[in-house]
Amino acid sequence: MTVEDRKKGGVSWKVYRTYFNAIGAAASVLSLVLLATGQSAKIFTDYWLAHWAAANSTLNSSLDLAQEGSSTTGAAIDESTSLYLAVFGGLTAVQAILTYIFYVSYYGSTLRGARRLHNAMLRVVSLAPMSFFDTTPVGRIINRFSKDVDVVDQTLPMVLMQYLNCMFAVIGVVVLISTSNPLFLIALIVIGVIYVFVQRYYLRTALELKRLDSVARSPLYAHFNETLTGVASIRAYGCAQAFLKENASRLDKANRVYIPIVTAYRWLSVRLELCGTLMIASTALLGVLSVSSNSTSEQNALAALAISMALSITNTLSWSVRVSTEVESNMNAVERIKEYEELQTESAHYIPHSSPDKAWPTEGRVTLKNVSMKYREDTPLVLKGLTIDIAPGEKVGVVGRTGAGKSSLMTLLFRLVEPCDGSIIVDGVDVTNIGLNDLRSRISIVQQDPTLFIGTARYNLDPPGKKSDAELWTALEQVGLKKAVEALGGLDSELAEGGENMSVGERQLLCMARALLRNSKIIILDEATASVDMETDKALQETIRSSFSSCTVLTIAHRLNTIIDYDRILVMKDGIAAEFDTPAELLRSKPNGVFATLLKETGPSTCSTLTKKAFEVEKQKQS
Ligand SMILES: Nc1ncnc2c1ncn2[C@@H]1O[C@H](COP(=O)(O)OP(=O)(O)OP(=O)(O)O)[C@@H](O)[C@H]1O
Ligand SMILES: [Mg+2]
Repeated sequence: MTVEDRKKGGVSWKVYRTYFNAIGAAASVLSLVLLATGQSAKIFTDYWLAHWAAANSTLNSSLDLAQEGSSTTGAAIDESTSLYLAVFGGLTAVQAILTYIFYVSYYGSTLRGARRLHNAMLRVVSLAPMSFFDTTPVGRIINRFSKDVDVVDQTLPMVLMQYLNCMFAVIGVVVLISTSNPLFLIALIVIGVIYVFVQRYYLRTALELKRLDSVARSPLYAHFNETLTGVASIRAYGCAQAFLKENASRLDKANRVYIPIVTAYRWLSVRLELCGTLMIASTALLGVLSVSSNSTSEQNALAALAISMALSITNTLSWSVRVSTEVESNMNAVERIKEYEELQTESAHYIPHSSPDKAWPTEGRVTLKNVSMKYREDTPLVLKGLTIDIAPGEKVGVVGRTGAGKSSLMTLLFRLVEPCDGSIIVDGVDVTNIGLNDLRSRISIVQQDPTLFIGTARYNLDPPGKKSDAELWTALEQVGLKKAVEALGGLDSELAEGGENMSVGERQLLCMARALLRNSKIIILDEATASVDMETDKALQETIRSSFSSCTVLTIAHRLNTIIDYDRILVMKDGIAAEFDTPAELLRSKPNGVFATLLKETGPSTCSTLTKKAFEVEKQKQS
C-alpha cells in the first residue's frame, strides 16, 4: 500500500489554472467583470449619498440666509430631491440586476467546472491499471470522490466568491478614502505591508493544517469501509469492541488537527484587528487634519464617508484573509482531483487500425513465447519466460502449488497486467498490439472470487441485455442454477451487493452461466468450481465438455479429479511451465514430477482412482 501523498507549500498556479480552465476562460472573465461593475455601482451609490448630503447642507445654509416662505426655493428643493432620489434608485436597481446576473452566471459556470473535473477524474480512475487499485486503499479513492468533489461542488465556489467580494470591497474603500485624502496612500503602504506579512504567515500554516486534515480522514474512511465489509467476521469473533475502539481512535486522530486550526485563526484575528484599527485611526486622523474652516461641505461629507467606510474595513479585511486561506486550502481538493486525473491509465481500449476481425478468435490457438510479467515495477517477476502452445479447442488443466503463478497467467491473458517481455499470440494476432476492449470482449473468464453486481439476475447474466429469456434460462439450466434463480423470484429478482444473497458456489455457477452466454472461443476458469460440491462440479464438467466442445478451455483447479480427463495438464512452478503434457504421459514419464506428487498427495485411494482414470481416458482418445 502506498502512503497517501500530502503536498507541501502553497498551491501552485497550475492548480488554479486547472480550475479556471474547467470553469472556462470566458465564464471566469465575465464573472470578474460583473462583480467589479456591481461593486463600483455600490461604491458610487455611497458616494452619491454623501454628495446628496453635502448638497443638502449647502442648500440648508443658503436657506437660512434667504427670506422665509420663498416658493421658488421650495420648488428647487423638491426638484433636486427628485433628481437625487431618481439617481439613487437607478444605481440601486443597477446594483441588484448586476448581482443577480453575477450569481446566476457564477454558480452555473463553477458547477459546470466541478462536473468537468469530476468526470475527468472518474474517466481516468476507471481506466487505471490494476497496480493502482492494488496499492490504493478504496477509502482513499472514496475520499477523493466524496469529500474533494463536494468541496469543488459547493465550498470552493462559495469561498472564492466571498474572497472576490472582499477584495473588490477593499479596493473600493481604498479608492474612496484615497480620493478623499491622497495622503492616506502613505498609511496604506504601511498597513499593506503588515497585512501581507500576517496573511502569508498564516496562510502557510493554515494550508498545512488543512492538508493534514484531509489526509487524516482517509484512514478513518478506510477502516470504516473494512469494518462494514467484514462485519460478519467481526461479530463472529466478538471483536466489535476492538473495532469500535479503533474507530474512535481514528476519529480522534482525524479531529486532532481541528484545535490548531482554530488557534491559528485566533492568532490571525488579533493581528488583523490591529491592521483595521490602524486604518480607521489614520483615516480619522487625516480626516480631522484636512477639515478646516474653508473646506467645502462636499469635502467634509467625503471625509465622513471615508471614516464610516474605514470602520467597516476591519471586518472585511479579516474576512478576506480568512477566505483567501479557505480558497487556497480548498484548492487543495482541486489539486487532489488533478493528481488522479494525471494517473497513468491502462493501454488504449480501442485501437482502430489494429482492431482484429469481428469473428476473431475463430480457432482458439493460444501461444505464449518467453513471456515474463511482474505486477509492479518494484515487485519481482512472477512469470519468468513462460513458453506454451495451446492447440485450438484443447482443454488444458492448469495446476501448481499456491503462489505458482496460475492466476497470474490468467491476469496476463486479459492484460490486466501487461507482460514485460515476450509475446502472446491468439490465432495469429499479437494481443499486446490490439485494443484492450477487443481483447477482453472476446475471451471469457470465471474468476477465483466470483463477482456479481447489485441488480437483477438478468443484468448479472447478460449485462448488455442482448439475450432472450429462453437463452438465459438454458444457460442457467446448463449450470444447474435454474431452481435457485426460480426460488429467488426469476430473472428479474434483485441480487444484493456482491451477490450476498447467494452462496459462493451459486455465485460461481452464475458467473459460469454468464461465460456460457458470451459464446467466446476461449474460456478461462480460475478455480471456478472450487466452492461447489463434488456432484455439481462433476455435472459442470460435463456441461463444459458439451457446451464448450469447440472452445479452448483453460481450467485452473486444485481438485485434480476436475481436470484428470483434460487433454493436457500445464504444471506451473515458480512462474514457468514445469510440465506440460497429457495426464497419462506426465504420470508415465515423470513419476516424481510435480503433477505425480500432487496426485499422490490426494491419498492412496483417490490417487489410484485418478491414475486409472487418466490412462482410461488416454485409451479412449487413442481408440
Ligand atoms: N496483485 C498482486 N500484486 C503483487 N503480487 C501479486 C499479486 N497477485 C499475486 N501476486 C504474486 O504473484 C505470485 C503468484 O500468484 P498467483 O495468484 O498467480 O498464484 P496462484 O498460482 O494463482 O495461487 P493460488 O493457487 O493460491 O490461487 C505470488 O507470489 C503472489 O505473491
Ligand atoms: Mg490463484
